[in-house]
Amino acid sequence: MTPTTAPAPHEAVPAPVDRMPLNGIDHIELWVGNAAQAAYFYEHAFGFRRVAYAGLETGVRDRSTHVLEQGRIRLVLTGALSSDSPIARHHARHGDGVRSIALSVPDVDHAYAEALARGARGVDMPSTRTDEHGSVRLASIATYGETLHTFVDRSAYAGAFLPGFRALPQRAPEADDLLLAIDHVVGNVELGHMQEWVGFYERVFDMTEMLHFSDEAISTEYSALMSKVVASGDGRIKFPINEPAEGRRKSQIDEYLDFYEGAGAQHIAVATRDIVGTVAELRRRGVSFIPIPESYYDDVAERVPAVAGQLADLREQGILVDHDDEGYLLQLFTQPVGDRPTVFFEVIERHGARGFGEGNFKALFEAIEREQDKRGNL
Ligand code: FE2
Repeated sequence: MTPTTAPAPHEAVPAPVDRMPLNGIDHIELWVGNAAQAAYFYEHAFGFRRVAYAGLETGVRDRSTHVLEQGRIRLVLTGALSSDSPIARHHARHGDGVRSIALSVPDVDHAYAEALARGARGVDMPSTRTDEHGSVRLASIATYGETLHTFVDRSAYAGAFLPGFRALPQRAPEADDLLLAIDHVVGNVELGHMQEWVGFYERVFDMTEMLHFSDEAISTEYSALMSKVVASGDGRIKFPINEPAEGRRKSQIDEYLDFYEGAGAQHIAVATRDIVGTVAELRRRGVSFIPIPESYYDDVAERVPAVAGQLADLREQGILVDHDDEGYLLQLFTQPVGDRPTVFFEVIERHGARGFGEGNFKALFEAIEREQDKRGNL
């Protein structure tokens, strides 16, 4: 007689196997025109600390790379050392931009093989870099535009960043970190391609579309963009994907696609615990934020009663407020960080809300219209 294979009632049902486990974002690498000066900017304006360097002095002949950290955020800035470098070609086409959104994984070979089996395009086969501090396994696949996802397993490494990098001496921090972690990274893709890339993240990474409850139907009319968000099962990785939509004026996504010359990462949102203090400090250090019209604050207390007590501070720093069924969030966007109107940063402080500020498109547009009205131009 064959024994039955069904589990007895007292046995635990096995947890579903996660076939594509992701630990989180390991780092974000930007390919820039001048990594030395970009590093100075992110250090002094944004409050990052330099932790590692590779370049001619460390035996690297084709590029100069500066690694900076703040909170759990790791930013990697790379510039070319010759005109025939792929970095130089990337920069000539796109300007400063995000080359890779690197993902920490427990097993690089598995992640790479699984991604390719699910239809992703491989860019760098798995390889190991080693130095006296241990070894790191790396591989890369393509996502939208010329952007990559690099898989990183640094569990066998004790050095500063990657083998071959020189660790930089660490001074005692002058103050607490302003920025704590990456909240989300947004991709802009061409008209009609948003669903295709949402499908890519669902298929390759088992991500799911995040449903968040806001008045999206209205906000779309004003914001002239379509947006969907994919997130990993634990919610640690969130990738909104935008495509342009017909609006009253040229979409900000169209402007990005024109100047980036294709799809790419639009903004990196970083979480803070005290957005009022953080934005004030970033302004003092020279970071420029988008200007918010005074009239935006006319109806904030009515829209989001929870922030009524903070209104004077929010108005003074020009911070935006949005809410959903689960709470509210405070956010503000920097001006583009490079010459082109492409990549920028967002600072965000969440209080329960899981959205991305969709309600602000409408509130901001209406505030701008109120300003226009005051000037008799509406
Ligand atoms: Fe955002």
